[in-house]
Amino acid sequence: LEADVVVIGAGIAGLSVALGLPAGTRAHVLTKARLGAGGSTPWAQGGIAAAVGPDDSPRLHAADTLAVAGGVAEPSAVEILARGGPAAIAGLQQLGASFDRRGDGLALGREAAHSRSRIVHARDATGAEVLRTLAAAVGRAPHVTVFEGERACDLLFDQGRVRGVLTRTEEDGRARLHGARAVVLASGGIGQAWACTTNPPEATGDGLALAARAGARLADLEFMQFHPTALAVGADPCPLLTEALRGAGALLLDEDGSRFLRELHPDGELAPRDVVARGLFLHRRAGHGTFLDCRREPGARLAEAFPTVFAACQRFGLDPRQDLVPVQPAAHYHMGGVWVDGWGRSSLPGLWACGEVSSTGVHGANRLASNSLLEALVFGGRVARDLAGALRRRAPARLPAASAGQLAAARQRPDAGLAAEAMVRLRRAMWEHVGLVRDEHGLRTALGEIARLERQLGHGRDDVHALLEVGRLVAAAALARRESRGSHFRSDFPHGDPAWQRRQLVEPARLTA
Ligand code: SIN
Repeated sequence: LEADVVVIGAGIAGLSVALGLPAGTRAHVLTKARLGAGGSTPWAQGGIAAAVGPDDSPRLHAADTLAVAGGVAEPSAVEILARGGPAAIAGLQQLGASFDRRGDGLALGREAAHSRSRIVHARDATGAEVLRTLAAAVGRAPHVTVFEGERACDLLFDQGRVRGVLTRTEEDGRARLHGARAVVLASGGIGQAWACTTNPPEATGDGLALAARAGARLADLEFMQFHPTALAVGADPCPLLTEALRGAGALLLDEDGSRFLRELHPDGELAPRDVVARGLFLHRRAGHGTFLDCRREPGARLAEAFPTVFAACQRFGLDPRQDLVPVQPAAHYHMGGVWVDGWGRSSLPGLWACGEVSSTGVHGANRLASNSLLEALVFGGRVARDLAGALRRRAPARLPAASAGQLAAARQRPDAGLAAEAMVRLRRAMWEHVGLVRDEHGLRTALGEIARLERQLGHGRDDVHALLEVGRLVAAAALARRESRGSHFRSDFPHGDPAWQRRQLVEPARLTA
């Protein structure tokens, strides 16, 4: 099939790119799932951070973002992000998104480490509202064709440029080739690599693995963010209890009713996310129970204001208006990914990336809550603008060919039993050894387990292969960073090292099969 642009992923980032391309561009959007469903976007609760309040400014938003990022965020990218907020919200509203309102303006929520109330939201189902809006707009856009149930297996090159994508249709296993003048990775995150995660089943790191195999520069892979408050009821994935609950006054208590976080940080429940998540993890490891107390605040208004949270609690027999809700940290958001510049250009000619799979540098070592949907909107829009210029300059090229090795890997399916067992073992190893507290012995143990599983499974392009690949990359990056910073905490190097106050770039060797 021939396109001008192939976008891998149909969440907020991918659809923002597709919609931003000039009319007449032949855009193919590939998704493993269905348009408007699947991926992390519809699961996003809290909202979109944007400096739209009368007491706020992009300068303040940027300062808050940098303040929690552990000194390794890219200030220029953060400025682009914060400045882009108000226009991104206005753009969504023009497309028909409906956000909660108060008086004449938007109702702005509060989340941890934001110095202002600046979270634009649609109750606690903001991502679902955004995806509904974008999917409807894509349905009205004649230049966009969506290919559902199609998995991206490999990038294809012609004369050193990325020129297309080899895919496999999930229904009948057919290999397909989409030739294009540019490819955009917008394939989301990697949370499924950990046994406890708030991420949906599709978050299997396919895009990151594909970029790594193709030799793209990667950055900040060790910085995985853990959300402090997932519902601790043994569900997989762990239901998220949005940070906006704490912004609305909910407290974190242990079994004695003690607000233990106040000993760690003066901001207590609203301390930066890495501090809260690690504090909770260590308190649990010391044998304590950890609970979210919503009984006073948001109290009786919880069911109306937080219907997603309310429904999740009810599924497990809890009424958060009356009961303490057990919580634990869970893998939530990957702040590293495919290195890109301020226009979303990767190190590979012809390949752009945006959203969670990318590493723009805006999050540094610790992401500010609700900056991720914003990043996808702002940088997705910039990728589209950059592509519009690139497409004007470049003539269509011949279609690339897939190698025999790539075709064989795309078609190969692992034994289902082996794959399921490998998934369980990988996720356990990542949770135990590449989680909130890491050390050299644990990281080497995880790498050993991953190597064993990779040998057992062999080549392939399924979820489990992608997760093994990204698990290995994250564990290796965590082993290399011999210090603690933001979400990356090494018990054997518990302090920050000024020599490490920089991003960690990785240049994988290009593999062909
Ligand atoms: C949440 O609603 O707590 C998640 C928001 C985020 O991770 O940005």
